[in-house]
Amino acid sequence: MTRTSEWTPESVDAALSLVDGPLTVLAALQAVQEQVGHVPDEAIPVIAARCNASRADVYGVLTFYSDLRTSSAAETQVRVCLGEACQSVGARELHQSATRLASPQVDVGHVYCLGNCALGPSAEVDGRVVGRVTPGRLASIVGESAG
Ligand code: FES
Repeated sequence: MTRTSEWTPESVDAALSLVDGPLTVLAALQAVQEQVGHVPDEAIPVIAARCNASRADVYGVLTFYSDLRTSSAAETQVRVCLGEACQSVGARELHQSATRLASPQVDVGHVYCLGNCALGPSAEVDGRVVGRVTPGRLASIVGESAG
């Protein structure tokens, strides 16, 4: 699917028309994010109408899943794992240092398990999972990714 940088009612409709199978609220939100890059507020009533759901239902699903965004994503996405295995080997401190890397070009968030528990602390940079991450190594990876 080709991502557009700006949303229009047509881009929301186009995204929804590409959903395979039943049009659930989650599938609709994922399709719009894939098409537009995020889920704009204006898409909520469109999705609600198409999914025969209330706006509150759509908003509830949108805000429940941390992978769904309501604004444009930064160029580089960083997520530090705060699952228990990673916390036991310093993930809280890693996340703390990672927040200093945040900028308009770099989003820093967290996730609870990347499936890389044996190599914690783990992080994900632009979809690539890395293990045994130190603050310095994370800064270096983010620098390579953003630069
Ligand atoms: S707890 Fe961090 S990867 Fe599983």
